[in-house]
Amino acid sequence: MQIFIDSAEVKELKALAETGLVDGVTTNPSLVAKAGGDFFESLRTICGAVKGPVSAEVVAQDYPTMLLEGRKLRQLADNIVVKVPMTPDGLKACKTLEEEGHPCNVTLCFSAVQALLAAKAGATFISPFLGRIDDGGQDGMGLIREIRAIFDNYDFQTQILAASIRTVGHVRDAALAGADCATIPPAVFRALYKHNLTDAGLEAFLKDWRGTGQSIL
Ligand code: G3P
Repeated sequence: MQIFIDSAEVKELKALAETGLVDGVTTNPSLVAKAGGDFFESLRTICGAVKGPVSAEVVAQDYPTMLLEGRKLRQLADNIVVKVPMTPDGLKACKTLEEEGHPCNVTLCFSAVQALLAAKAGATFISPFLGRIDDGGQDGMGLIREIRAIFDNYDFQTQILAASIRTVGHVRDAALAGADCATIPPAVFRALYKHNLTDAGLEAFLKDWRGTGQSIL
């Protein structure tokens, strides 16, 4: 499963890219507002730091303006992916942009039939928001499993990008459910490394090693 970071914080993304484990980035208008700074400048820097796909969202609601915004965003860097909303105009823009060679990520997906429509529009990525579904008392991971089954039934190539991830458990379950990618907030990404038995085990190994009085270098 590819690991994307769900953030628009340039400094943080640069640091996380250094881990060598980051396959891409997703931003959205709320994350951009939270990060502050110039939208285009930030995107250029992020695209330079992370070699994989970097999703940047259009804010127009109508098809012609979405196309203009999408094409403009794509001029920033080769690895920009145009994020469009799961609306009739959004899917129409997705179809046209994909036909022009611009990869799209259809965002705000909350049902399997929405994902089916996005796949039929030729989307490169579909983003089911599993955390927000869980927040509403429903089964976010169940949606990932449904979309996986539908895409496999018809051999759709659209990649399932599990979004609105809140916990380490979400990452594990998205991988088990067959998501192609998961976009993860920085704090959850850092938590993926952690296990109390790893910390305790390492401490014991180092204590025993010190007792030998030897050094490797
Ligand atoms: O980038 C889209 C998505 O990951 C948003 O997550 O936590 O705002 O539901 P959240």
